[in-house]
Amino acid sequence: MYIAKEGRYHKMVYNRCGNSGLKLPAVSLGLWKNFGHGSSLANAEQMVHTAFDLGITHFDLANNYGNPYNGSAEENFGRILQGMKQYRDEMCISTKAGYEMWQGPYGDKNGSRKYLTASLDQSLKRMGIEYVDIFYHHIFDPDTPLEETALALDNAVKQGKALYVGISNYDRQQTSDIMKIFKELKTPFIVNQPSYSMLNRWIESNKLDEFATENGIGLSVFSPLYQGFLTDRYLNGVPSDSRVGRGDTWIGDQLDEKMIAKLNALNEVAKNRGQKLSQLALSWILSNKAVATVIIGASRPQQIVENAACIEKLDFTADEKQRIEDILAM
Ligand SMILES: NC(=O)c1ccc[n+]([C@@H]2O[C@H](COP(=O)([O-])OP(=O)(O)OC[C@H]3O[C@@H](n4cnc5c(N)ncnc54)[C@H](OP(=O)(O)O)[C@@H]3O)[C@@H](O)[C@H]2O)c1
Repeated sequence: MYIAKEGRYHKMVYNRCGNSGLKLPAVSLGLWKNFGHGSSLANAEQMVHTAFDLGITHFDLANNYGNPYNGSAEENFGRILQGMKQYRDEMCISTKAGYEMWQGPYGDKNGSRKYLTASLDQSLKRMGIEYVDIFYHHIFDPDTPLEETALALDNAVKQGKALYVGISNYDRQQTSDIMKIFKELKTPFIVNQPSYSMLNRWIESNKLDEFATENGIGLSVFSPLYQGFLTDRYLNGVPSDSRVGRGDTWIGDQLDEKMIAKLNALNEVAKNRGQKLSQLALSWILSNKAVATVIIGASRPQQIVENAACIEKLDFTADEKQRIEDILAM
């Protein structure tokens, strides 16, 4: 039987998510890859336990994680939760709906009340829980009226199936539009989940981060390691057991000589700070005050241990920041 580690809350940093009362760990664990059908359940369980023992209280899921076996990550997480029931109130569990999930017009990529309502019911069943802490609309749907999507999320809260709501992959304008509706409804809308990393800075050019700060919305950012590029995995080539090596990503062809030189230069900055490249990449994101949490992925427990230690050095000198900018502009 799993007993959580004593002292697990001593080190982790907890940030308020926007202006809400909810605090999120600076580092959260995402279950997109390596938790679904075909992944080792023992390894998945070990990763969840390792995270929880490090004070990582937030676990990020979506209906379709485990794809192409949609729902299988939630099912496995449900199995793992069976052995952690006594810790439910110490956990913040999020899920999403928005991408293609089941056959036919109601499970297709969309933001309808029909789809979101049915999907959340399915997610709760798969995970064996009564409510999620955060329910997200996964991606903006230009074909569904925003009022309908907002009302569906609001309804999930009114039904007691979600405590807070969020949106994901919404840009600044889309966030502003739906925020206005949530304000009228008094929906506890607290978070937007965009991609963000040293190698993907669209939220800065879009000024989504600025907007989030001004409006008290937290950002929970995904793929903070650019799917593993910003670690020591690819400094000397492509290991066959890596995400790129397995062909489990669409960004593998970006890993050219120029990118590898950039990663090695960033690694030098990391070394001078006494960090690993992954830790540098995560600390750098957390220095953007709009960000409440970085949602990391992992394929083994040790990666979670390494990544969580980024909180030991969150400050940057002006010289370090400039050096990083120069490298990223290379
Ligand atoms: N809202 C959305 O649309 C959306 C989209 C994508 C993701 N997400 C969320 O964000 C989470 C994270 O996404 P992600 O998996 O792309 O994140 P990531 O943290 O950028 O990449 C994770 C991958 O990097 C490698 N890695 C991690 N730590 C490492 C370390 N210390 N040393 C060496 N390699 C390391 C592992 O890959 P290998 O070991 O397999 O090489 C791991 O699976 C997802 O699980 C999900 O919850 C949300």
